[in-house]
Amino acid sequence: GLKIVTIGGGSSYTPELIEGYIKRKDEMPIDEIVLVDIEAGQEKLNIVGEMAKRMVKAAGLDWKVTLTLDRFNALKDADFVTTQFRVGLLDARVKDERIPLSHGILGQETNGAGGMLKAFRTIPIIGQIIEDMKVQCPDAWLINFTNPAGMVTEAAIKQFGWKRTIGLCNVPITHCMDIAGQLDVDQDDLFYQFAGINHFHWHKVWDRQGKELTAKVIDLLYKKSDDGPESALKNIHDANYHIEQIQDLAMLPCGYHRYYYSEDEMLQHSIEEFQAGATRAQVVKKTEQQLFELYKDPALDYKPEELTQRGGTYYSDAACEVIASIYNDKRTVMVVSTQNNGTIQDLPYDAIVEVSAQITSHGAVPFNWGEFMPAARGMIQLMKGMEETVIRAAVEGNYGAALHAFTINPLVPGGQMAKRVLDELLYAHKAHLPQF
Ligand code: NAD
Ligand code: G6P
Ligand code: MN
Repeated sequence: GLKIVTIGGGSSYTPELIEGYIKRKDEMPIDEIVLVDIEAGQEKLNIVGEMAKRMVKAAGLDWKVTLTLDRFNALKDADFVTTQFRVGLLDARVKDERIPLSHGILGQETNGAGGMLKAFRTIPIIGQIIEDMKVQCPDAWLINFTNPAGMVTEAAIKQFGWKRTIGLCNVPITHCMDIAGQLDVDQDDLFYQFAGINHFHWHKVWDRQGKELTAKVIDLLYKKSDDGPESALKNIHDANYHIEQIQDLAMLPCGYHRYYYSEDEMLQHSIEEFQAGATRAQVVKKTEQQLFELYKDPALDYKPEELTQRGGTYYSDAACEVIASIYNDKRTVMVVSTQNNGTIQDLPYDAIVEVSAQITSHGAVPFNWGEFMPAARGMIQLMKGMEETVIRAAVEGNYGAALHAFTINPLVPGGQMAKRVLDELLYAHKAHLPQF
């Protein structure tokens, strides 16, 4: 049977995972699920871990659910390792978001200044996890969900050499659901193709007759005024796009593109949240508290509806389906972070990209995309260069590279501002940045 180990098991998202495994119980002969956390997360681990045990029991399954702080031993003979940890927990995210905003620039915990700092804290840990995996489970697959998922996945594969890594995000799934809903058709009757990098990808859509529906969906979703449909993602403010620009793009943007195409409006909104003491991290802290209050209830043995308040909802469908598809060679088409291999001509051959792919027993086989139009190519090449520079800074503890990454990130102004914000963030997070 299967042994699945989850690093960061104390996350409030864990019930999503358990629900996803239970849904796939007939295709996944699980023996043991191990939830690993650290001392700082032990209380959360116990609460959500007991809840996971209740969920498994209520489903009539005999899977062993183990809670532990001992990562090295937990990894012994694992088949799949999933990662969903946050170095420094939500308090670190509060700093990631609030420090840049205090200087009037976007924090944003994946794409902005905050995301680069999150990468600096996270990449060394993924390296340590892989060191343990080399000894304890050399054939295991690493399914990375930890943000910034694209950079962490690229570091795992390229810097730390774990080829069997797949990165995941719930954003593509959310868009697929949203589009099918808008068109009032079944998702299975549409063909979607995504290409780009994590939190910076575009997509197109066709129907079963072979007709491309992208332009129609652009109009449906974005040709709107204030009463249009909401942003499909709970954590992203619903700024309007400039419809002419998206029509010119002729691809659907992902939710995170609002930070670029509608940068000023997003910044303005974030500054208002900052002033109100209600940045996303601060809101999520409250949501998390409420979720853990629910999880404490010994009668609760299913995933509560309230979890959809988190931006990462539906994550289980991605993580569990990837595992089921690898294990059973299902060849499910999914959007994952994996090695480019020429899929996107505009990016390095060995870069990690987020693309539609078939998930086979030997991993993700991406669908060819080709080239982007210059307007998109310019942005994505800059973003990939920024990501590579962040990874280098994180691995080497290289301050010059860090400054470089801050300077080229489109959400951070260069010059003294880049340096000031970087320095303040490095200082605030120094307990989690031994490499700097
Ligand atoms: P969280 O703050 O609840 O952290 C999850 C757990 O990780 C905590 O219990 C914490 O104690 C633990 N942890 C911290 N450092 C650890 C370490 N070194 N080893 C093991 N465990 C450690 O975070 P969350 O809000 O539940 O999010 C979890 C992670 O998943 C974050 O990195 C977040 O960005 C990511 N996420 C990704 C997506 C996606 O689309 N890929 C969606 C949602 C969340
Ligand atoms: C999703 C992203 C995740 C991100 C999450 C934040 O849209 O795909 O990568 O971690 O939102 O949600 P939260 O509830 O933590 O703000
Ligand atoms: Mn994501």
